[in-house]
Amino acid sequence: MSIEKRFFGKLDGKGDVDIYKITNKNGAFVELMTLGAGIHSINVPDRNGKLGDVVLGFDDVNNYLNPDLGYQGLVVGRYANRIRDAKFSMDGVEYNTPKNQGTWTLHGGGRFSFNIWDVKETGNDFVVFSFFSPDMQDGFPGNFTMNVKYTFDDSNTLKIEYFVLSDKKTVANPTNHAYFNLSADSSKTVEDEYLQVNADKFTETDDTQLPTGEFGLVEGTMMDFRTLHKIGDKIDEPFRAIIEGIGYDNNYCLYDKKLGELTQAAVLYDEASGRQMQVYTDLVGIQVYCGGWLAKDGNPGKGDSKVTFRRGVALETQSYPDSVNHSNFPFKFVEPNKEFKTTTEFRFSVK
Ligand code: BGC
Repeated sequence: MSIEKRFFGKLDGKGDVDIYKITNKNGAFVELMTLGAGIHSINVPDRNGKLGDVVLGFDDVNNYLNPDLGYQGLVVGRYANRIRDAKFSMDGVEYNTPKNQGTWTLHGGGRFSFNIWDVKETGNDFVVFSFFSPDMQDGFPGNFTMNVKYTFDDSNTLKIEYFVLSDKKTVANPTNHAYFNLSADSSKTVEDEYLQVNADKFTETDDTQLPTGEFGLVEGTMMDFRTLHKIGDKIDEPFRAIIEGIGYDNNYCLYDKKLGELTQAAVLYDEASGRQMQVYTDLVGIQVYCGGWLAKDGNPGKGDSKVTFRRGVALETQSYPDSVNHSNFPFKFVEPNKEFKTTTEFRFSVK
């Protein structure tokens, strides 16, 4: 294993962004950037041993800052996904977070991801990024430090460990927002990739994609990914939890899952290249988002790809969206001065 650092680009008004490249003994490598503790690339072999980059992203670092381009590869925090009415209560106190979309908060208010993180530590096979968010930034209580450790290994597993420390009781829902396309060809739609999600339920949503607090059963619906099949098979079937024309952008509730147990959440598979990715997490939910809100043309990408609509699927391990407003959702608050940790692994192989 080896690690190398290089300059990636200048971020308008914010400084320089570096990339840490971790390479394993077979030459597979990941590129992790100080912007948003983000994943810039993951280069893993197909069934013929040919390396390909399986995540979307940008050549120009400044594009990562545009929320309309979908938080590609970035760590999302403090609280990923949605918070209804941009508020929540904890121990009788109401906290107000930014309304950065409609009447709700999306991805912690949108600012958290767009910072340059410090590098705390590196080793041959890992890098630890660190970011400090002061008390009440974007309405969230607690002087809050998030460390994110990425480790890549010889079996092509990328492990992400999130460590949170706060001096006051608070909330956290960290995730990574990489969009995967296992064909390594972003001109190909993810509708042709195969997905399995180990969930028999999903959180029901209203017409603004906010959880209602109810659970729906996947059985007999287009939401059912309990067995591996093509994402595109039913993506445009009308369904109450789907916005017409967008397709999957839903939280699945992982089977009988206890918070803190690392188990398989999902499998993504590309038949032509043979690449497979297994997602493991100790969290209870996963957002399956197929890039349906990305533009149908004209978006920047890597190289000269201009289309991002459904060209990548984000598999965002998470607490259920808006857990802070639903006492029936499994959720652990961050206790003062007590480290909160969560782990997700993306395990790559070929079939
Ligand atoms: C959300 C989408 C959103 C995307 C990019 C996903 O986690 O569920 O609705 O468009 O992130 O911000």
